[in-house]
Amino acid sequence: MATLQLNNINKYFGTGTSRVHVLKDINFTAQKGQVNLVIGPSGSGKSTFLTIAGGLQTPTDGTVQLEGKAVKSMTSKQRDAMRLNSIGFVLQSYTLVPYLTVKEQFKLVKKVKKEHNLSNLSLESLMQKLGISELENKYPGELSGGQNQRVAIARALYTRPDILLADEPTAALDSERVIEVGKIFQDLAREQNTAVVIVTHDLRLRDFADNVYKIMDGQMTLDSEMRMAE
Ligand SMILES: Nc1ncnc2c1ncn2[C@@H]1O[C@H](COP(=O)(O)OP(=O)(O)OP(=O)(O)O)[C@@H](O)[C@H]1O
Ligand SMILES: [Mg+2]
Repeated sequence: MATLQLNNINKYFGTGTSRVHVLKDINFTAQKGQVNLVIGPSGSGKSTFLTIAGGLQTPTDGTVQLEGKAVKSMTSKQRDAMRLNSIGFVLQSYTLVPYLTVKEQFKLVKKVKKEHNLSNLSLESLMQKLGISELENKYPGELSGGQNQRVAIARALYTRPDILLADEPTAALDSERVIEVGKIFQDLAREQNTAVVIVTHDLRLRDFADNVYKIMDGQMTLDSEMRMAE
């Protein structure tokens, strides 16, 4: 069973003459243990696709199924529980809480989701891999863009999600860090059996993906050219 399945998803924004068709009949499946990369230029619909996939916004039509269950058939309470327990989000605009230190960001998550998170030891090792273990007592405002981004990645992985949805997770990272983050996503799929979905314009992540898709003007296709070039 596919962990995440989107069927015939369309999304329109606006009304009347300003109505825009942002996602056009998208069909997409993510399996456990695989890294899926969706590559597209700015404005192509990547963030809209990812937030719909994670149940953060609703499509105009079409169905999203998470773990075989249609999101629209869930109550809002069930949707919240599903998001909290099964999905890790790395959103495009950094979402760290500004008045909490790095260490406190994780404590906050633990208050809301008390169990089945990473052990302190595993979190420490993840933070070391991401090069952020020295930043524990700093506030997001004291961090660089790339450091913020890596803390956001660690926070998303802290809850040990079944599905990881990441929006431009490497935009602020240099090439060395991109390789490190790419490997972390790959390990997550291989070792934790997570379904990883990354939307990006960062071609550097291709090497770490099992499936590469292209999104252009709201239309998604499997990118066979990119696969052949590997
Ligand atoms: N809430 C909204 N209301 C109206 N239009 C929107 C809304 N959200 C997105 N759009 C439009 O939908 C299109 C796709 O936006 P989206 O943010 O999904 O693109 P993207 O591929 O993530 O771009 P980027 O790479 O710049 O982040 C854009 O034309 C955008 O202006
Ligand atoms: Mg975006």
